[in-house]
Amino acid sequence: MRPVRKAVLPVAGFGTRAMPAAKATPKNLLNVFDRPILAHVVEEGRAAGIEHFIFIVGRGQGAIEDYFDHNVELESQLKAKHKGDILGQVTADLSKPGQMSFVRQMQANGLGHAVWCARDLIGDEPFAVMLPDMLMDAKPAALKQCIDAYHAVGGNIIAVEPAPPGQAHKYGIVALGKPAEGFDGRLKAMTGMVEKPPPGTEPSNLFISGRYVLHPEIFDILGHHYRGAGDEIQLTDGMLRLMGIQDFHALEYQGTTYDCGDLLGLLRANLAFGLKHAEHGQAVRDIAQSLLGG
Ligand code: UTP
Repeated sequence: MRPVRKAVLPVAGFGTRAMPAAKATPKNLLNVFDRPILAHVVEEGRAAGIEHFIFIVGRGQGAIEDYFDHNVELESQLKAKHKGDILGQVTADLSKPGQMSFVRQMQANGLGHAVWCARDLIGDEPFAVMLPDMLMDAKPAALKQCIDAYHAVGGNIIAVEPAPPGQAHKYGIVALGKPAEGFDGRLKAMTGMVEKPPPGTEPSNLFISGRYVLHPEIFDILGHHYRGAGDEIQLTDGMLRLMGIQDFHALEYQGTTYDCGDLLGLLRANLAFGLKHAEHGQAVRDIAQSLLGG
């Protein structure tokens, strides 16, 4: 079975749910405690064995590229002032030469269009998609769990998780068939998926949560530029068509997801990552308690 070496990270959306915080700073560079959201997601990808990260970017997002590159002036200042700790922190997330690519989407035509923009860089191999506003705190890393499932059953894998009670109609929901062996019922064959089903018609309560292992045949389908919901080229529509010729499995991965695409989700992630931070966890707890008057 061919390995999954490359991941596509689409970041070219407008981030309207995170406005105005994301107006002048790319949404995915907003902070989750000590680092930008994207740095946490790239760390997850590295832990899953990803060798090459392909960012689908829009105008005004050059700061993403800068974050993963050297800042020579800053680094030499820190060296000269013997601030080794800080130097270690600002260089910890750097890319290795040739392991990151940045592709302009040109127009935010939808997630399916964003993924399609990676077609030449992916070529003819299976690949991962990571939606970077979904921060997944999991051991093993959420994408690693997906890739392990891919090595067990092949085909395409989609990470899913239970929608909050009564909220399934707000998400992309999967329809499920038989469980695969060896995953305690958490890996199941998929029979369909539906974007925002009307309440009461949901085929399950599991929503598509932002990590995928896909096969390159998806690019031919997305290349037809079929427009779906919101007049956008939807990845879900492309996957539904691919499902006609290839197997799909849904993996209920083990871990916690933080939707950092809106300001409350981002706050929740900040609190959670702050509370479990090795150095500052206790201070975060003290701050939270004093704010609550405890
Ligand atoms: P979302 O729709 O959740 O993100 O797309 P958004 O558009 O940034 O946010 P809202 O809904 O306006 O608040 C999921 C991911 O796909 C990317 C987004 O940047 C986000 O990371 N995306 C979406 C693109 O790269 N291009 C697109 O045309 C659409």
